[in-house]
Amino acid sequence: MNIVIIGAGYVGLVTGACLADVGNRVTCVDHDPAKLDALQRGQVPFYEPDLDAVIVRNVAAERLSFAASLEPAMRHADIAFIAVGTPATEDGSADLSHVLAASAELGRAVERDTVIVVKSTVPVGTCERVQRTIDAELRMRGVPWRATVASNPEFLKEGSAVDDFQRPDRIIVGTDDPQAQRLLAALYAPYNRNRDRLIVTDVRSAEFTKYASNVMLATRISLMNELARLAEKVGVDIEAVRHGTGADPRIGHHFLYAGVGYGGSCLPKDVRALARLAAEHDQSTPLLDSVQAINDAQKRLLSAKIREHLHGRLEGATVALWGLAFKPNTDDIREAPSLVLIDELLRAGATIRAYDPVAAERVRQAVPDARLQLCRNARAACEGADVLAVVTEWREFKSPDFRWLAQTLAQRAVFDGRNLYDPQYVEDCGLRYYGIGRGRRETALAPA
Ligand code: UDX
Repeated sequence: MNIVIIGAGYVGLVTGACLADVGNRVTCVDHDPAKLDALQRGQVPFYEPDLDAVIVRNVAAERLSFAASLEPAMRHADIAFIAVGTPATEDGSADLSHVLAASAELGRAVERDTVIVVKSTVPVGTCERVQRTIDAELRMRGVPWRATVASNPEFLKEGSAVDDFQRPDRIIVGTDDPQAQRLLAALYAPYNRNRDRLIVTDVRSAEFTKYASNVMLATRISLMNELARLAEKVGVDIEAVRHGTGADPRIGHHFLYAGVGYGGSCLPKDVRALARLAAEHDQSTPLLDSVQAINDAQKRLLSAKIREHLHGRLEGATVALWGLAFKPNTDDIREAPSLVLIDELLRAGATIRAYDPVAAERVRQAVPDARLQLCRNARAACEGADVLAVVTEWREFKSPDFRWLAQTLAQRAVFDGRNLYDPQYVEDCGLRYYGIGRGRRETALAPA
């Protein structure tokens, strides 16, 4: 098929590259000329495993191209995706200006019957607005073409986006139009070989499902984080509780990790946007409000623990920090727990020696403070530090040399914001261990 994608951002690029990879001809349209030039040379503007290789081979095969305008690609397009950003506005609602601008542009560029697919995460009712916007343009032009708008939310995760797209657990298509249903079923057939992945529903339900999924995930995390706080008080290890509760298939093991709070470009934004949508319909959202409040507090937990260990003396202390990205395998720092920790430590007068395999440059730009020192590797970050805080569970942080850390960290303590380590083992190596919800009987600090 001939496909046009508006927005060469995260979702647009992964969608375009993967659809080209199964044989479609894809044009990604974006207004940023520097980005388009870089992409044409195979340079991806963010870190995402495997994506650059998929882009390079499909550009070389002339199945994937990049363009600054919808012309002439729309002349042949069977399907056009809207995959532009919907950032949060000040009141938390989704900013639809890019979606509506793309809709108007599409209305001016459609040259045949086309299915328009909204992939951006948008509040209920947006696809209908998109349809009205395009129809108005088509009417103004006096052309006979039909543009059918369908919802097709994206569920891919950063860090495993290519794999998620190629092996989806569900593909949600929202449209009542039988022709659009057939076309999208054909488009996604390569990912639906066993015919068990495609869920066709109405437009509004599809839009809502995306928010419901992210809100469900965020709620699970906040619940585990609340339980973790209680676990610490009553001498319970939340990791043991995670194993025990996750074994119930109704609960399941995924997404049950207590930690320093959820971040990223989706969960925080979508919880806020759904609460905002509810408020617009005079509905209160006590659960969503708590989910957010717990998450905000969770992001501040590590700095409180560090402060306590140092008897309130953060001023002049040096904290080694492992992990800056909001999760591993990405350089995305949007709403990252590390940023809250950095802010609190800097404000309290501490110095930070931070290391992240790929996100350091983004943090350097976001936090231009001389007391935030970005280090070349994990060990270097610990040299001259009092304590170590681990905020992102990159693979290379999973088995550190604790005996070396015990000799290196002046205040001999590890703050494990992702519950990566065995508390007893860390303490046997001569360090004080602090996790999230790792309550258990007090163990004496073993000699170094
Ligand atoms: C999320 C959704 O998972 C995805 O389906 C949607 O399309 C976009 O939003 P993403 O933001 O890439 O994906 O990351 P995800 O893996 O969901 O993690 C979100 C945050 O939750 C991270 O900060 C992560 O560290 C945190 N998290 C995740 C936990 O604290 N505990 C967990 O058990 C799982």
